[in-house]
Amino acid sequence: MMKLFEAISIICLLVVVTEAANNGVARTPPLGWMSWERFRCNTDCVTYPDSCISEKLIMQMADHMAADGYKDVGYEYICIDDCWPLKTRGADGRLVPDPARFPSGMKALADYVHSKGLKIGIYTDFGHSTCGGYPGSEFYLETDANTFAEWEMDMLKLDVCFSSSADFKYGFPAMEFYLNRTGRQFVFSCEWDWGMGDGANYTHMAEFCNLWRVAHDMEDYWDNVQLVIDVYANNSRNFSDFTGPGAWADADSVIVGLYGLSADQERAHFGMWSMFASPLLLGADLRSIKNESKALLQNKNILAINQDPLGRQATLKMKLAQNKIYVFLKGLTGGRTAIALFNSDYHGQPVRATFMLNQLGLTNGNGYSFTDGFTGMARGKYMPATEINIDVNPTGIDIFIATPV
Ligand code: GLA
Repeated sequence: MMKLFEAISIICLLVVVTEAANNGVARTPPLGWMSWERFRCNTDCVTYPDSCISEKLIMQMADHMAADGYKDVGYEYICIDDCWPLKTRGADGRLVPDPARFPSGMKALADYVHSKGLKIGIYTDFGHSTCGGYPGSEFYLETDANTFAEWEMDMLKLDVCFSSSADFKYGFPAMEFYLNRTGRQFVFSCEWDWGMGDGANYTHMAEFCNLWRVAHDMEDYWDNVQLVIDVYANNSRNFSDFTGPGAWADADSVIVGLYGLSADQERAHFGMWSMFASPLLLGADLRSIKNESKALLQNKNILAINQDPLGRQATLKMKLAQNKIYVFLKGLTGGRTAIALFNSDYHGQPVRATFMLNQLGLTNGNGYSFTDGFTGMARGKYMPATEINIDVNPTGIDIFIATPV
C-alpha cells in the first residue's frame, strides 16, 4: 500500500502534470531492441559471460544496431530490462547497478550508446520489487526518476509486479511528473493496462504514457503471437481510438530471429506488429541473427507502414473463409490504406481470401493501384467491385497498399 502522505502529494501533483502524449517524443512508434525476450534475468556472468545482463551485452547490441543496418532504417533505442541492479539499494536510497556486471556504471554505458548515435532505456517497477525480484520503485519514484535522468537515460519501462492496480492511476502520472521535472526527455513505457481488464482507463494511459502494454508477455512460440493478434482483433473498448503520435499500444517485443517461428510466422508477426503501430523492440540476439530474419526486420516497406506519420492503429474490418482470414486495415498518409490478410489457420495449405474493395469501405470510383506491402512491387489495379482472390499461406500474411487512382 502507498503511504498516505505519498498518495496525497501525488494527487496534488496531478494538477500540474504534463501529458505524455505531448512530451515531444515517440511521435512515431519507437524502434529498438530490448534485453528481456532473449536474455531474461541471466545474471550469471561466470557461466554465461556472453549472455548475462551486463554492460558488455548492451554495448555489443549497440554496436550491432549501429553497424549492421538497423540504425540506418530507424532503430534507435537499446533497452535494458529487468535484473540490472543489486538486490538492495545503496545507503543513499538509490538503485545501484550491479558493479560486477556494470563495472563502468550506467552513465558511462549511456555515453557509449549515445556515442553510437543511439538512445538507451532502463527498467524499474511500480511495486516493492520488480518481477525478477530486484528493488522496485515504491516510495522511490522521485529518487529513481532523478537517478535515471542523471544517468542520461532516454526511455523508462515501468512494470507493475508486486503493486496494487488501485494505485496505478496515481502512480503512473506521478512517475511521469517526476520524469518531466528532471528536464530530460523520456519515452515513458507503462505496463499499466496489463492486468487491468475492464478497469483499464485508456484516456489516462494516453495522457501519461507514451506506450502501454495491452497484452500478456511475448513468449517464443506461435500461439502466443496469435493470442496477441486476437487482442488487437477484439480491440476491447476500442483501445485503437486512444492511440496515435506520442501514445502507442505496445504489443510487446518482436520475437523475429529467436527460435520459435517459421519464416511465414515471422512475416505475419512482424507485419501485424507494424500494422498495429506497435513499438518494435527487437528481442533477438543481434550478434547471431539469421540473415532472413535480419532482412525482414530491416524491410523498409513494412517499417514505413509502422512509422506512417498518421499513427493509425490497424483495426479488424472483417473475417473471411470461415473466419480463418482476418482482414485488418490501417489508414496511411496520402489517402492510402494498408490491407493485411492474415491467415490464422495452420493446416498445411494456403487459404483463399475472396473479397471486393467496396466491402472494405474502399469505394474510389477510379479504383486503386496495389503495391505489395513487403516488396513494394506493383500488384495491379482494382475497381471497388472487382472480385479479388488471394491465397494466403498458413499462419502467414499478405499486405497490400491500396492507393486511390
Ligand atoms: C514482466 C514484463 C516483461 C519483463 C519482465 C521482467 O513479466 O511483462 O516484459 O519486463 O517482467 O521481469
